[in-house]
Amino acid sequence: MFSSASTTLVALLPLLASIPSIFALDESSARSASVYQLVTDRFARNSSVTSTCTASERKYCGGTWSAISDKLDYIQGMGFDTVWISPVVSNIGGTTGEGEAYHGYWTLDPNTLNSNYGSADDLKTLSTNLHSKGMYLMVDVVINHVAATSSSTFQPDSAYGPFSTSDDYHPFCWITDYTNQTQVEDCWLGDSSVALPDLNTDSTTVSSYWNNWIQELVSNYTLDAIRIDTVKHVPKTFWPNFVSSANVFNQGEVLNGDATYVGAYQSDGKVNPFNYPAYYPLTRAFNQTSGDLSELIAMTQTIKSSFSDPTLLGNFLNNHDNARFESTVTDASLIKNAHAYPFVTDGIPYGYYGSEAGFTGGNDPDNREPLWTSNYDTTSNMYKFFTSLNMARKAAGNASTSFYTSQMNVSSLSSSSILINKTPLISVLSNSGSSASDASVTIPSSSSGWSANVAIVDSLSCEVLTTDGSGNLAVTVKTGLPRVFIQNSIKGQVCTGSAATNTSTSSGSSGSSSGAITLKMDVKASWMIGAVGAVLGGMMMAL
Ligand SMILES: *[C@@H]1O[C@H](CO)[C@@H](O)[C@H](O)[C@H]1NC(C)=O
Ligand SMILES: *[C@@H]1O[C@H](CO)[C@@H](O)[C@H](O)[C@H]1NC(C)=O
Ligand SMILES: *[C@@H]1O[C@H](CO)[C@@H](O)[C@H](O)[C@H]1NC(C)=O
Ligand SMILES: *[C@@H]1O[C@H](CO)[C@@H](O)[C@H](O)[C@H]1NC(C)=O
Ligand SMILES: *[C@@H]1O[C@H](CO)[C@@H](O)[C@H](O)[C@H]1NC(C)=O
Ligand SMILES: *[C@@H]1O[C@H](CO)[C@@H](O)[C@H](O)[C@H]1NC(C)=O
Ligand SMILES: *[C@@H]1O[C@H](CO)[C@@H](O)[C@H](O)[C@H]1NC(C)=O
Repeated sequence: MFSSASTTLVALLPLLASIPSIFALDESSARSASVYQLVTDRFARNSSVTSTCTASERKYCGGTWSAISDKLDYIQGMGFDTVWISPVVSNIGGTTGEGEAYHGYWTLDPNTLNSNYGSADDLKTLSTNLHSKGMYLMVDVVINHVAATSSSTFQPDSAYGPFSTSDDYHPFCWITDYTNQTQVEDCWLGDSSVALPDLNTDSTTVSSYWNNWIQELVSNYTLDAIRIDTVKHVPKTFWPNFVSSANVFNQGEVLNGDATYVGAYQSDGKVNPFNYPAYYPLTRAFNQTSGDLSELIAMTQTIKSSFSDPTLLGNFLNNHDNARFESTVTDASLIKNAHAYPFVTDGIPYGYYGSEAGFTGGNDPDNREPLWTSNYDTTSNMYKFFTSLNMARKAAGNASTSFYTSQMNVSSLSSSSILINKTPLISVLSNSGSSASDASVTIPSSSSGWSANVAIVDSLSCEVLTTDGSGNLAVTVKTGLPRVFIQNSIKGQVCTGSAATNTSTSSGSSGSSSGAITLKMDVKASWMIGAVGAVLGGMMMAL
């Protein structure tokens, strides 16, 4: 394959391969990232397209990569620095019993892009535009399967690109028993409308293709991170080589609430799972005023013992696969407490597009609403709320080098509130709801580590409180709102708006102002980085 003249370069190959892209996120840098998940077809489209988009119809609505490029200020203004976009490869065309492949999860040929979202240049430009703003691109990848409407009679052909022979697939069988791991890995997802033929990742033809493909995809589009779909449907033994070929941070979907089951994918598979184990107790804790907080507290303990590194989990409340929390919960305070959790806990926070716009869509496909109907309002209460959460997290990371790597402690403060101690960020989350009367709780110095008579700011209301002579902090939870505290002396840019001058030591909180200001991000010397990247990229191509 290589001529003898290339010997020196070949010797350099492993070295170069171990150097992450200049931009890319690795495990260490990913901990300080905050990810905005969007559905490419639904986040933004060219303003010249005006057709009505109805989520329940499951049709393409016209969202594109170049339209995302035009809306990066909207995302960055909320404090998110990483954008997770839908899968980029070409999907099955036409319509099916379950509509069109607008979501991007119905792979046809991984060698080509989904032209509905734009061109290769548009995707490269999105990547470049993100990097020039100091932001990162995370692309969703589907490895487990392709898609077909022919169901059990599926016969692959050249339309499936690299996977054109039946040897590339596990023989047809539906997964009927999700507790049977053999079935989960070898049988097919989907149904008679759209079958998802299961790729035989035990075949070295298939696994070698994928390992090479992910390396090329990351390199061609200068990706910073990948999100991996349906991880539990592929044997754990496949993943370590795949993620090391990607050589960027990965976050993977292991759709299961059992921490032990999910944890094995991190220790054995080298995939960093989304925090489904916390998702279910989180939902139950805050979806009603009598929600069970102890179950959530207990799960945080279970997670510590079940994952090799809980600080690399992906925390979320909403996503494209689950009904939005707001589809069943209307209380504004319960909604804010539940949304705060992913941002004040161990791991990487994920915000799902539309949460800032108050969207209420239920299960798929209703939770994939078009965002353009919101007019990208940056003045809404929830937009400011997410801005404040991201800023609080960033300030804590700025103030303490161990903020992202050390594990939190969660405990009960009262029957309706919990204390999340992730030093130096200390939060009180409550499920008493917006009609609750004022409730007093105390954050003991023994857990906060705060000294006597120091000023503490609530990043969300910008109220400044002061610890007592023993370092304890008396907090009044008003209208059930969450509180995200950081010592005033290390608050950085938190509450630097007008509210920052509010040094009232009363423990009340109006909670009506979010205290959000536009987040100023580090803008990298992109031209220089880009030039170095191009040189490195060129060397890789030459090799
Ligand atoms: C929208 O379409 C117009 C006309 O095709 C084109 O000139 C413009 O660049 C497009 N804008 C975006 C953001 O794609
Ligand atoms: C699991 O599924 C496989 C494949 O369908 C089957 O052969 C096996 O008997 C099942 N195991 C159990 C314990 O049901
Ligand atoms: C990457 O780009 C090369 C050169 O254009 C192309 O041959 C290859 O198919 C691309 N791979 C992917 C996964 O995009
Ligand atoms: C809260 O969430 C749990 C888990 O999703 C669900 O079983 C329960 O019905 C929900 N309760 C309410 C009041 O929405
Ligand atoms: C959590 O508690 C442990 C044991 O008491 C302690 O070592 C650790 O520092 C605490 N973590 C934080 C963030 O306070
Ligand atoms: C965190 O530190 C960076 C770099 O010094 C700074 O630009 C940014 O404003 C800080 N963030 C906050 C929320 O204080
Ligand atoms: C200052 O904080 C107090 C107590 O929380 C509150 O009542 C008041 O409205 C705040 N004032 C401003 C200007 O934010």
